[in-house]
Amino acid sequence: TDKYAVFGNPIAQSKSPFIHAEFAKQTQQDLSYDAILVSVDQFDSSLTAFFTDGGKGANVTAPFKEQAFAMCDELSEMATLAGAVNTLFNLPNGKIGGDNTDGVGLVNDLEMLFGSLKGKRVLLVGAGGAARGCILPILQHNVAQLVICNRTHEKAQQLQALFSEYGNFFAKPIEELVSPFDLVINSTSAGLSGQLITLPNVIVDKTTDCYDMTYSQQTTAFNQWAQDQHARKTADGLGMLVGQAAKSFSLWRGVTPDTASVMGKLRESLA
Ligand code: ATR
Repeated sequence: TDKYAVFGNPIAQSKSPFIHAEFAKQTQQDLSYDAILVSVDQFDSSLTAFFTDGGKGANVTAPFKEQAFAMCDELSEMATLAGAVNTLFNLPNGKIGGDNTDGVGLVNDLEMLFGSLKGKRVLLVGAGGAARGCILPILQHNVAQLVICNRTHEKAQQLQALFSEYGNFFAKPIEELVSPFDLVINSTSAGLSGQLITLPNVIVDKTTDCYDMTYSQQTTAFNQWAQDQHARKTADGLGMLVGQAAKSFSLWRGVTPDTASVMGKLRESLA
């Protein structure tokens, strides 16, 4: 039985053990996948011990994605640009490899829900770790433009400096957003603390799709706001969660699991 695990703090809420157990059943892979709670100062040593004990691969969730990035011996381009790692491998020479599948999980879900990203005008709200991880994958799908806005504008400008060479990507102050987008993505953590980000109503009209990277049983506050502006479609981030897991699973096991059936079961379990 090959050993995998997710590391985080907190970790009890993690859906990853359930998702990977479903994937393993579906693809008949002999593996175990545990949730491991680590304290902030023991992340590096726990992860190293896990791999020394024969662990094949690991996922990393908040607040350790940047720390995981720092301790990898080898990094994918996606992880390098994201500055964060959510997927780790035990390399044959005893080294640790890191990748980031969050952005691919997001983009796959967006295209499944709303159709091709090609030629779309996209607004990314927020400029934290979650935003940074998905800029490159979005630009790689040939959007017409990707605009980033954030409560703290300087953080959006810093990301512009990092990523503008990869496509038509620029930061705009929130108050300068004056027309509708084809797609608006909320990457902020505002909703998690029951807050609603303040955005101009004009950025959403009946042609706009809206995606909230967070998820919950009820409609999220951002999606409720989007529906009030008559958005074309809204979706929450459950598909991104399953999508990033599917990409990790296929990197580790060489088989791509079906995500739709797992999504259905997860959605029920949120109730
Ligand atoms: P994550 O890794 O989830 O992106 P983060 O790096 O802490 O977490 O970033 C949180 C993001 O949510 C930031 O863009 C933050 O805006 P600031 O950079 O101005 O702090 C945004 N955010 C959190 N609470 C918010 C709120 N109440 N209103 C607007 N933006 C908020």
